[in-house]
Amino acid sequence: METTLVLVKPDGVQRGRIGTIVARFEAKGLKLVGMKLMRPDRKLLETHYAVHSARPFFGSLLKFMSAGPVVAMALAGEGAIGVVRTLVGPTNGAEAAPGTIRGDYGMSKSFNLIHASDGAETATSELALWFPEGTLDYDLASLGWVYDPE
Ligand code: CMP
Repeated sequence: METTLVLVKPDGVQRGRIGTIVARFEAKGLKLVGMKLMRPDRKLLETHYAVHSARPFFGSLLKFMSAGPVVAMALAGEGAIGVVRTLVGPTNGAEAAPGTIRGDYGMSKSFNLIHASDGAETATSELALWFPEGTLDYDLASLGWVYDPE
């Protein structure tokens, strides 16, 4: 089992896409183990996007991510990190395939609706950053019909 971090970015919130995006992950069979609406402060965003700090778009990325509330989610499942990245699609919504979240709702490389952890180490550090209080484990009855017990 893996757990991964997903953010519905300020454009996704302002465009009324929170429910649609959460529904995609629920329908896939991923287990929601954390979710909150929050206004990230600059320090949190600088840490989250530290890997991009030398990029020319870093300033505009922080401005965009500070422009409104975001929804932070923790999603668990077998291979959840890769499964979620596949559902999200590539960075540029204009190039992302239909059927992916960015492909269905996005037209931009920067205003791309959603963030998802890109690997196991990133997921661990991003979950610690956005959910320092931890996530919530519980039995989800439907999972018995999502995975083959054999
Ligand atoms: P995300 O998956 O959150 O990771 C880094 C973010 O930087 C990315 O989504 C985009 O929102 C943004 N980004 C990536 N490349 C560019 C770019 N070339 N110009 C502007 N923003 C970008």
